[in-house]
Amino acid sequence: MTTASRAVASPRVVCIQDFRPLARRRLPKVVFDYLDGGAEGEVTLRENCRVFEDVTLRPRHAVAVSQCDLRTRVLGLDLALPFLLAPVGYSRLMHPGGEVAAAHAAGAVGTAYILSTISGHRLEDVKAASSGPVFYQLYLMGGRGAAEASIERARIAGFSALVVTIDTAVAGVRERDVRNGMKELISGTLFAKLPFLPQVLAKPGWLANFLVDGGVRPLPNVVVPGQGPMPLVDIGAALAAATVTWADLRWIRAAWRGPIVIKGVLTADDARHALDAGAEAIVVSNHGGRQLDGVSPSLRALPEVVAAVNGRAEVLMDGGIRRGADVVKAICLGARAVLCGRAYAYGLAAAGPAGVARALEILRVDLERTLRLLGCPSIAALDKSYVNLPDWARH
Ligand SMILES: Cc1cc2nc3c(=O)[nH]c(=O)nc-3n(C[C@H](O)[C@H](O)[C@H](O)COP(=O)(O)O)c2cc1C
Repeated sequence: MTTASRAVASPRVVCIQDFRPLARRRLPKVVFDYLDGGAEGEVTLRENCRVFEDVTLRPRHAVAVSQCDLRTRVLGLDLALPFLLAPVGYSRLMHPGGEVAAAHAAGAVGTAYILSTISGHRLEDVKAASSGPVFYQLYLMGGRGAAEASIERARIAGFSALVVTIDTAVAGVRERDVRNGMKELISGTLFAKLPFLPQVLAKPGWLANFLVDGGVRPLPNVVVPGQGPMPLVDIGAALAAATVTWADLRWIRAAWRGPIVIKGVLTADDARHALDAGAEAIVVSNHGGRQLDGVSPSLRALPEVVAAVNGRAEVLMDGGIRRGADVVKAICLGARAVLCGRAYAYGLAAAGPAGVARALEILRVDLERTLRLLGCPSIAALDKSYVNLPDWARH
């Protein structure tokens, strides 16, 4: 066992929440809060987790479940587990291994990794690191030319699907980031950075790794034609200049012939737009409570979208997944699979590759035990009969 895996072994890390204090200890405040925080009052961020308490489980006891089958199929791909790794921008700030480490860990357990446009590693390297499927999450940063170039690179590299995130017309205001000087530290002048530097200097271990890794780099997958890789500027400004519309989906559809996933749907109306745009899958998501605060927690929006889609596309969800039982509840409410964001990113921040591997192991073991305790032999057999539905889930 390596030192890093010992640091996240039981009993120090027993559940996903146990990674949080370890991540907080390793990272400068500005990076930890970027990972941990949400928009404005963080109401949706909190509700994303809390809402799972509204759904209680209905076990079938005294049933022998000898084999427990955790497999599922997403977009025609066989996954060993019903959770995928969500796109998490700036993962390389959390640990130099960043997106490469996360993709590798996903492949090792037989699931898919979704690479954010805001990646510190080249998409070709991320694909090569995983033995499983990798999807590319697209923001239109850098304009259409840059997007078309990255779509073409993703096709050549062998990415399995394109995930278009639609909930970022502008970046949400994450108040912790403003207070910590995230923007200044990433793209400001030395003078602008100065007031915020003490929090970075307070974590010399992280700082040494960060500097050896090359510090703040341009985005290797956003190559603006005639200009080269886009510098890591103020993300709010970059996203505001890159709003995606349903009309854009037409040229995106023409540029990418593989499956398209629309991420960030919370209403039946948007689900229908996504179907009209030719989406093969939809992710019910509020971006982990990081965009518009005060929207429904994802689980609560799920039944409305499942009803509207009515089997015409696959419905995934993300937001608040921290335990195997959360995965089970989302699937009982109609999701084919879920995405987890912070659940693995806390692990990455706490202990790099070993931390992601441990996070995925915790979720896998948790999920299998939950199914056995429910008396359910497989993910495929989960349905509404295994939960007590709250009123909001009756669609
Ligand atoms: C630090 C961080 C960065 C994120 N970056 C992106 C991104 O670049 N693109 C995207 O579509 N979603 C992004 N998300 C949202 C996640 O893909 C996912 O929707 C969310 O994390 C799910 O909630 P959870 O963290 O509670 O699992 C990010 C989330 C976090 C926590």
